[in-house]
Amino acid sequence: MASPKHTAFAVVVAFMLATTHAQLNPFYYALTCPLLPGIVLDVVSRALKTDDRAAAKLIRLHFHDCFVNGCDGSVLLENAPGIDSELNAPPNDGIQGGDIVDNIKAETERFCPGVVSCADILAISSQISVFLSGGPIWVVPLGRKDSRIANRTGTSNLPGPSETLKGLKDKFEALGFDSTDLVALSGAHTFGKSRCMFFTGRFDNFNNTGRPDPTLDPAYREQLRQLCTTQQTRANFDPTTPTKFDKAYYSNLLNLKGLLQSDQELFSTPRADTTAIVKNFAANERAFFKQFVKSMIKMGNLKPPSGIRSEVRLNCRRVNAASGHDVM
Ligand code: HEM
Ligand SMILES: *[C@@H]1O[C@H](CO)[C@@H](O)[C@H](O)[C@H]1NC(C)=O
Ligand SMILES: *[C@@H]1O[C@H](CO)[C@@H](O)[C@H](O)[C@H]1NC(C)=O
Repeated sequence: MASPKHTAFAVVVAFMLATTHAQLNPFYYALTCPLLPGIVLDVVSRALKTDDRAAAKLIRLHFHDCFVNGCDGSVLLENAPGIDSELNAPPNDGIQGGDIVDNIKAETERFCPGVVSCADILAISSQISVFLSGGPIWVVPLGRKDSRIANRTGTSNLPGPSETLKGLKDKFEALGFDSTDLVALSGAHTFGKSRCMFFTGRFDNFNNTGRPDPTLDPAYREQLRQLCTTQQTRANFDPTTPTKFDKAYYSNLLNLKGLLQSDQELFSTPRADTTAIVKNFAANERAFFKQFVKSMIKMGNLKPPSGIRSEVRLNCRRVNAASGHDVM
């Protein structure tokens, strides 16, 4: 039945799978869950029909997953005995998209039970989210496992909205990301929204200066002030093309229309090496997309500390009842 060609193919794939326990690879689920890309495409496109932030929510979850103990699905774990959820830490307060992850997980469990990790669901749904929003497409390395622990204190690795450029750089550098990675990855703020609480401090008495943030365009500031009737109100990161993945984030920075202080710092900090990178991406979408893909793959490669037990979680919100197998 199996032709020699098919057999050869299967052998090659099996070899690739066998050699992947340490290194991620795009064919990881080729035999065990060939429908995976289609499942994710289907669920994310359906989510986008009723929630134009679905894509933004998913990529933010991946970022917050990877920056804390590597890409291991730890961000998704809820409080439980022995689990001090990362969701309780300030950087993850109010983070959304867990329901979309649940829907993807339900479908992967239906078609390929016990096979696809939640960490990989975040990686692949980030790529599909960017693509469905008009951004680049890339081949996503796969084969991550889910952690059996959360690391709430590890969320201090995550940058904050009022961070200075030095603070941002330090946090990214600590994980191996340079200024180019920082500027490229920040470009994800080309879609999605932020609650007003993260930027209203720029309106008046900014940083105890008694004046508004001089690097925030005054007309834009007054528009935001009007919008922000409560601190929970959400504003588009990109006032020009709010749901599209494009280079508008960088053009906005050139126009002093970065929403968060941490966004505007990339362009407005005097003598910073990031200013030229912002200008380059604002002028050249191809350069932005190319670097974004590189930096996303690099982010997706962040590994959990060695020796941490892992598994393929059946429910992304909690560890499996039976103990998982070890990574190594
Ligand atoms: C560079 C430092 C960064 C800071 C300080 C930062 C901070 C924030 C803040 C404060 C919000 C609003 C959260 C809320 O209102 O609940 C947000 C949203 C978001 N962030 Fe970041 N972020 C950073 C980098 C990134 C990176 C690297 C990515 C992805 C690659 C990313 C993707 C997003 C997206 C897509 C949203 C919108 C989410 C939504 O609409 O629900 N951010 N970020
Ligand atoms: C939690 O994260 C911090 C910061 O990255 C790290 O130093 C620490 O070892 C992590 N703890 C565990 C148990 O993984
Ligand atoms: C805010 O003020 C502090 C102390 O004066 C200073 O170190 C910091 O750079 C200021 N931040 C900005 C963004 O101006």
